[in-house]
Amino acid sequence: MSLFRTKDLDQMIHSSRSDTGLQRTLGAMDLTLLGVGAIVGTGIFVLTGSGALLAGPGLSLSFILAAIACGFAALCYAEFSSTVPVSGSIYTYSYATMGELVAWIIGWDLMLEYGLATSAVSVGWSGYMQSLLSGFGIGLPAVLTAAPGAVPGVTTWFNLPAFCILLVITALLSIGIRESARANNIMVFIKIAVVVLFIAVGFGHVQPTNWQPYLPFGYNGVFNAAAIVFFAFIGFDAVTSAAEEVKNPARNLPIGIIASLGICALLYVVVAAIMTGIVPFQKFAGVDHPVSLALQYAGENWVAGFVDLGAIIGMTTVILVMTYGQTRILFAMSRDGLLPKKLSSIHPRFATPFFTTWLVGVMFAFIAALIPLNILAELINIGTLMAFSLIAVAVLVLRKTRPDLPRAFRCPGVPFVPLAAIGFCVFLMFHLQAVTWIAFLCWLAIGFLVYFGYARRRSLLHPK
Ligand code: ALA
Repeated sequence: MSLFRTKDLDQMIHSSRSDTGLQRTLGAMDLTLLGVGAIVGTGIFVLTGSGALLAGPGLSLSFILAAIACGFAALCYAEFSSTVPVSGSIYTYSYATMGELVAWIIGWDLMLEYGLATSAVSVGWSGYMQSLLSGFGIGLPAVLTAAPGAVPGVTTWFNLPAFCILLVITALLSIGIRESARANNIMVFIKIAVVVLFIAVGFGHVQPTNWQPYLPFGYNGVFNAAAIVFFAFIGFDAVTSAAEEVKNPARNLPIGIIASLGICALLYVVVAAIMTGIVPFQKFAGVDHPVSLALQYAGENWVAGFVDLGAIIGMTTVILVMTYGQTRILFAMSRDGLLPKKLSSIHPRFATPFFTTWLVGVMFAFIAALIPLNILAELINIGTLMAFSLIAVAVLVLRKTRPDLPRAFRCPGVPFVPLAAIGFCVFLMFHLQAVTWIAFLCWLAIGFLVYFGYARRRSLLHPK
């Protein structure tokens, strides 16, 4: 039964209200920007091309489907984050509700979500940066432009720009939340402005004939694309992992999650409709900058240049928030004894998990430099969908086991909303490739080995 031992929820809620060593500096607006900062990135700027090839002009429907899945999951998240306002995202919430083993599995999944997403978005950033620089006649030696095997027919060794951007972000985060949140806010505003610019300029170039036929690959194409572009919504949950640094978390966390998801869903659906309205979808094959390609196709080269720049800035904020989320999850797991203690040490001067931030930054910088984007993206989606399903289960469990707990935000329509979240997420998981499932199961198997070989006996809940 020790596998199902849970943390004391009341004790956690109590200690979250006392001083934890981290500073409480973030409000609802900061959180919404943190969310949008985490969400709008490689998904909309790069993966829309792959999505359009699978779904055709019906790509907007894929975004709606993915948004619905995330929306149900977000409602579950919001209930948890307003009840258990402590660091560590759904890892922490499940530790208090479904027990240590499930919490461990979720924490392990979140390493796929946050960690690999950090790497994946850095690879997307690198592509846009190289494209922008090539406009000025600047280019790197080919071997330093991509991971080995990433570009068919070209010898590549190491993605140097992806590696460098991750280290820069790491340095920023390691010196403190206050500075990085402020920088993040400015970059998010630029990113939204660029997306709105695309919509405003692109709208006039739409040729409705490009939307015919609307579903060239039927609904199955829409579903397959939804499983890919789901990536574009990943990140709203990063808001919850900042819980210990939020002022009035009971109010501000739910606002931050739901507002950031809603804003992004609206933008994506419109962008997808306009992109596929400007360019016949077949032309997105092999393109790694589909949004600016649509503008170039329409003859708006100047605007396309601005979009390139905005995409670079946009992806920078995603890397920032994802790295932040990853360090705070490791911090929480270490504080519970499941990972080495060193990972929850706080820097005396900067008041950040300095060591963990650098450890994570360097590790995922190497992954970004050495592994191609498509492999990373598929793994991220499956890990995240699994974690989202488990949070919905946790909402149901907690309503039964602790109906008395004060919940600043209550998920509406229980049990139907959590059940819908589970249904949608599992549905999308089954539209991912078999090879992704195999890799995911291997990752889980390693997680079990580490848990039974190390974490279980080191847990603070283990009898001494
Ligand atoms: N949602 C994030 C992105 O699209 C991960 O880059």
